[in-house]
Amino acid sequence: MKTSISKFSFFLAVAALALTFSAFKQGAKPWPVPDKFEKMTNPIKSDASSLKEGKELWAKHCQSCHGKNGLGDGSKAAQLKTEPGDFSVAAFQKLSNGNLFYKISEGRSDMPSFKKKVDGDEDIWNLINYIRTFKK
Ligand code: HEC
Repeated sequence: MKTSISKFSFFLAVAALALTFSAFKQGAKPWPVPDKFEKMTNPIKSDASSLKEGKELWAKHCQSCHGKNGLGDGSKAAQLKTEPGDFSVAAFQKLSNGNLFYKISEGRSDMPSFKKKVDGDEDIWNLINYIRTFKK
């Protein structure tokens, strides 16, 4: 009797552990970007009107997951399978404009593809100009 109880509690402990681990979010996997995107340059100057556009688009399409200031703390962030990341850190801000352009247009898992949602490339560039303001 005693051994079956301890076997059962061992089983419970293992099950609890497995559950805890499966609840952890997936860490960010490397996201390869084709060369032709890496080399793109941003055709839109980061002036007041571009930043204004970018800010509006951000509030409408991105903030719910990425948070107001790109810290990854949006209202939907807790429900996501993957971390949306922190856009204020140097490692993120080092990514090229074309790298961000590719990821925003194509999307991956929880990150939606925006090439059809926003009004053409220009909106994506306005967003990228705005994202650059999150730099610490
Ligand atoms: C439904 C939630 C959600 C929305 C809305 C969303 N994102 Fe994301 N985003 C994510 C997640 C989750 C990831 C991480 C995806 C991965 O690594 O597989 C991500 C990744 C990114 C990345 C790449 C980050 C990196 O470190 O490489 C960029 C750039 C980005 N999002 C920009 C945007 C922009 C701009 C918008 C609005 C137009 C937006 N996202 C809207 C959830 C979202």
